[in-house]
Amino acid sequence: MASFLAFLALLSFSFSINALYFYNSTAIAPTSWINSASIPHTADYSDGSSVRILLLNVNPAGYGPSFAAGFYCFAPCNRFFFSIFIIYANDVNKGIWDGSLPQVIWTANRSHPISENATLQLTSKSGLTLHDSDGSLVWTTYVERSSVTGIYISGSGNLVLFHINNSPVWRSWGHPTDSLVMGQSLAGGQRLTASSSSTNWTEGKVYLILLAGGLFGFVNSDPPQLYGQIPLNSNRAVNKSAFMNFDNGSLYMNSSSFYYPYFDSLHYSLLSILIFLFFGGRFRILNWSN
Ligand SMILES: *[C@@H]1O[C@H](CO)[C@@H](O)[C@H](O)[C@H]1NC(C)=O
Ligand SMILES: *[C@@H]1O[C@H](CO)[C@@H](O)[C@H](O)[C@H]1NC(C)=O
Ligand SMILES: *[C@@H]1O[C@H](CO)[C@@H](O)[C@H](O)[C@H]1NC(C)=O
Ligand SMILES: *[C@@H]1O[C@H](CO)[C@@H](O)[C@H](O)[C@H]1NC(C)=O
Ligand SMILES: *[C@@H]1O[C@H](CO)[C@@H](O)[C@H](O)[C@H]1NC(C)=O
Ligand SMILES: *[C@@H]1O[C@H](CO)[C@@H](O)[C@H](O)[C@H]1NC(C)=O
Ligand SMILES: *[C@@H]1O[C@H](CO)[C@@H](O)[C@H](O)[C@H]1NC(C)=O
Repeated sequence: MASFLAFLALLSFSFSINALYFYNSTAIAPTSWINSASIPHTADYSDGSSVRILLLNVNPAGYGPSFAAGFYCFAPCNRFFFSIFIIYANDVNKGIWDGSLPQVIWTANRSHPISENATLQLTSKSGLTLHDSDGSLVWTTYVERSSVTGIYISGSGNLVLFHINNSPVWRSWGHPTDSLVMGQSLAGGQRLTASSSSTNWTEGKVYLILLAGGLFGFVNSDPPQLYGQIPLNSNRAVNKSAFMNFDNGSLYMNSSSFYYPYFDSLHYSLLSILIFLFFGGRFRILNWSN
């Protein structure tokens, strides 16, 4: 009888622990997180990848594709990245995650994977700073002269440091890596740079850059080699900067949509999330789903 009661007590204790760790999309400075298995929300996937979730913006439906920021590793998971990723949040209150693979859409310093016990700090003075377990500086947001109140991950995958009056101080959308998500823009001069390979995320040799004449693909050699372009239909004699955004399932450059057959086959809905990625010099649009 005594052991049965003890068992019951243990059960209710573990339930209350779960309830304590409610998902949150926001954190207030100062806060710090250590990359360890004791982070309350972790998920392991069938391909050997894992996520350790720090901030999660649960899909308004209460489940389904959701954006999160945290530590990500691919198999064999001995090195991690601080990343933004899409995961399938299935019934958030129970904290159950199904087997859908996470999709990383942004990473802080792809050249420097981090170890167990690396530290991510959020301070009002420096914003976010990532140090590896040996103390080496991996990455920082450099927000000199601004004081940071907190951070949130938006419902569309933008990690935002904000000031006291909620004004954004730093946005991950302003620092794209190799992907664009729905609603995100690429400004003139900005690049998307492919990783070296799927297992070496150091910036590779190919990049896409938006210039006055359109979107150009280059191999980063000396001099850079042009390998592809999507011209912007405008008077090229006028040096206007270009502007591209990824919205409603299509890419728009200065408001005129590009039409690729692939795009037409996509059934865009508010719950589908499209990702623009490229590997080996080609770009792809993925429709992430479970
Ligand atoms: C989320 O975090 C913010 C800032 O720390 C806090 O004000 C809020 O109460 C938290 N929400 C939940 C549901 O824990
Ligand atoms: C991480 O830090 C904890 C606490 O200091 C320590 O017990 C553990 O061995 C460390 N893990 C690694 C892989 O260094
Ligand atoms: C990324 O890490 C590499 C290697 O430690 C370092 O040389 C580089 O400056 C870092 N990049 C940024 C943007 O912090
Ligand atoms: C990753 O790729 C970079 C750039 O191509 C290369 O310098 C580095 O040696 C590679 N790292 C590993 C572990 O293969
Ligand atoms: C456009 O910009 C390029 C590079 O800055 C410059 O060489 C060229 O003269 C400019 N063209 C016009 C029409 O202003
Ligand atoms: C494209 O749009 C941007 C932002 O609205 C504008 O500054 C630029 O002049 C436009 N470029 C052309 C070629 O129309
Ligand atoms: C996307 O769709 C919404 C709603 O139909 C519309 O208001 C918006 O202008 C569209 N975006 C673009 C870039 O066409």
